[in-house]
Amino acid sequence: MDAHRNRILIVDDEPQVGLMIREELTERGFVCRVAEDAGRAREIIDTEQPDVLITDIQMPGTNGLDLLVYARKHAPQCKVVLTTGYSNRQYLVQALLLGAHDYIEKPFRPGELAEVIFRAVNGESDGSLLMDRAVDAMELGLQTRQASLDSVTALVRAVEAKDPYTRRHSEQVTHYAVNLARATGLAAPVVESIRVASLLHDIGKIGVPDRILTKPGALTEDEFQKISRHSALGSDILASITLFAKEAKLVRHHHERWDGKGYPDGLVGEQTPLESRIIQTADCIDAMLMDRTYKQGYSVDRMLGELLRCSGTQFDPKIASAAIHWCRGNPDKLILPGRDLVPQPVSA
Ligand SMILES: [Fe+2]
Ligand SMILES: [Fe+2]
Repeated sequence: MDAHRNRILIVDDEPQVGLMIREELTERGFVCRVAEDAGRAREIIDTEQPDVLITDIQMPGTNGLDLLVYARKHAPQCKVVLTTGYSNRQYLVQALLLGAHDYIEKPFRPGELAEVIFRAVNGESDGSLLMDRAVDAMELGLQTRQASLDSVTALVRAVEAKDPYTRRHSEQVTHYAVNLARATGLAAPVVESIRVASLLHDIGKIGVPDRILTKPGALTEDEFQKISRHSALGSDILASITLFAKEAKLVRHHHERWDGKGYPDGLVGEQTPLESRIIQTADCIDAMLMDRTYKQGYSVDRMLGELLRCSGTQFDPKIASAAIHWCRGNPDKLILPGRDLVPQPVSA
């Protein structure tokens, strides 16, 4: 096969991966450029009009799909081939609808990527077969993710069952967080991430001694330190499961505060991911309304008063305001002690 000196732009935030792809394709006669971020990639697309763009779907700070849209607009002849990891198969169909020529799942077999690129430069495509393949991969990815989510949720339930006062806390937080996310107009994939991260937000409590979790009355400084580790610990647990890599970060920051006095990193304002700020507000709504070993549940009015009072210190003012509005408009959806409202199954 002859590559006819076709120009390939490789975009991957992992330098090793970019270099490995370049080596393989250069050996086969392609002329390759490597970019490690979308900004550099856009410059090369504008100035060099590559024949093929190979880009990772998920990169920090940007997204292969954005780059795909950019290339379709600014270099219409350029064929876009996406590389995808196990955890972002859900974007495949979207990518094909946006005009991706093909995709390939990491890790590649030797020679596999070159075959895909030869097909791309020769204008060959699997057509509808490609879409079928993407739908199958997506479905498999979603099933695997759901199965993993079910097992991890079972762990969360086991932790919550230790304390009758926190039973169903995570499901209730999910109920509020998803409703708040939708009320704020967030896109379906973001709502889905919020759903998963809320269900798992307190999973790190598995590493906190039971006597602290169920202690009636105030915690000592040392006990508070121990319980405060749960967000970072939960994040570490989830980070070890590839499918939940994104949610791991959201869980880490669910106790940050708008004024920077939260934990574990003391992030200020919008430094905390929006998703975590929503989960934090939802978490506090549930904690205020329900009874705990150390307090009785607040009335709805008192809870709303606290949201307002702590807007701009504990809570993101925009989210606090959206939460107050949503709670006022949906009194029947608030979960109160003795009112066993089963949250609707939520999916984005
Ligand atoms: Fe928590
Ligand atoms: Fe919580």
